[in-house]
Amino acid sequence: MEANQIIKILADGKFHSGEALGQILGVSRAAIWKQIGQLEELGLQVSSVRGKGYRLSQPIDLLSMEIIEQHLSSKAANCFPRLDLQSVVGSTNDALKNHGADGKGAMVCLAEMQTAGRGRRGRQWVSPYGSNIYMSLVWEFNEIGGALDGLSLCVGITVAETLRHLGCAGVALKWPNDLLFGGRKLGGILLELEGELTGTTRVVIGIGINVVMNRAQGQEIDQDWVSAQEICDKPISRNQLVAELLNRLAESLPAFEVQGFSGFWERWQALDALIGLPVRLLMGNRVVEGVSQGVSEQGELLILSGEAVSAYRAGEISLRAVR
Ligand code: BTN
Repeated sequence: MEANQIIKILADGKFHSGEALGQILGVSRAAIWKQIGQLEELGLQVSSVRGKGYRLSQPIDLLSMEIIEQHLSSKAANCFPRLDLQSVVGSTNDALKNHGADGKGAMVCLAEMQTAGRGRRGRQWVSPYGSNIYMSLVWEFNEIGGALDGLSLCVGITVAETLRHLGCAGVALKWPNDLLFGGRKLGGILLELEGELTGTTRVVIGIGINVVMNRAQGQEIDQDWVSAQEICDKPISRNQLVAELLNRLAESLPAFEVQGFSGFWERWQALDALIGLPVRLLMGNRVVEGVSQGVSEQGELLILSGEAVSAYRAGEISLRAVR
């Protein structure tokens, strides 16, 4: 019996007796009890009440391939013919990196939980079960060269616009890849390359969005953060969010291949959280202070410092608002 079978039943947040669970899953009550213990290891809180049974402390809107596929546009279904939904993985980026290229169209990996989720600059990405979006996709580019920085921005724009479309007004972007709301982190993008910058490059595009994560689940996060549900004017369905993201990525990634970042520049400027504001740029031991001017048509950050505007590429740079 796999953990996700019992989670599927308990996802409604209602009580289910050990006996009923055992009957549905064809195992003994003792096996159910053992399985419940394993759910707690996944970070799921299960309460058990004598005479009533077990229930999750909060219901889970589980990811469902069926619902996602129902909401996909035909373009997205063509672009992403292989969707893989996992219960628990180390990192969805790694799951795709370990999967060889076989030229049958882009692959997508989604997971309910990551045990070794990674953020930019070697940071951990807190990834509790059933609460957020952890999604990676592989896209093959020809001659991506220096355009990679712009790609990360293009994906950020697509994610921010998707969230706004679903009712999260005020979602903004902080260069190069932070999704913010009111200065608090809502999500991020991690691009990883396979192959060379010349010829065909496989890019693994990892997207993480906090959706219904609660304070206890996110307590290890070392910066201010927010979940989409806290800022959205209507209930968010994770399945709908995934489908809408894929629908929009199926438009923006091919457009990026043709136009590069310059075709997205105006959309970035409209979403930039720090444009016109004082900022501090940290590059190892070096610090630059100035006023953000948004980004260039190549996706570099533009900072006005003294009389001059300088352009910076991503990499090991960290950008902070000066308050
Ligand atoms: C950041 O802002 O630092 C980037 C966060 C990227 C997180 C996502 S979650 C899906 C994919 N798998 C990972 O291990 N990381 C990315």
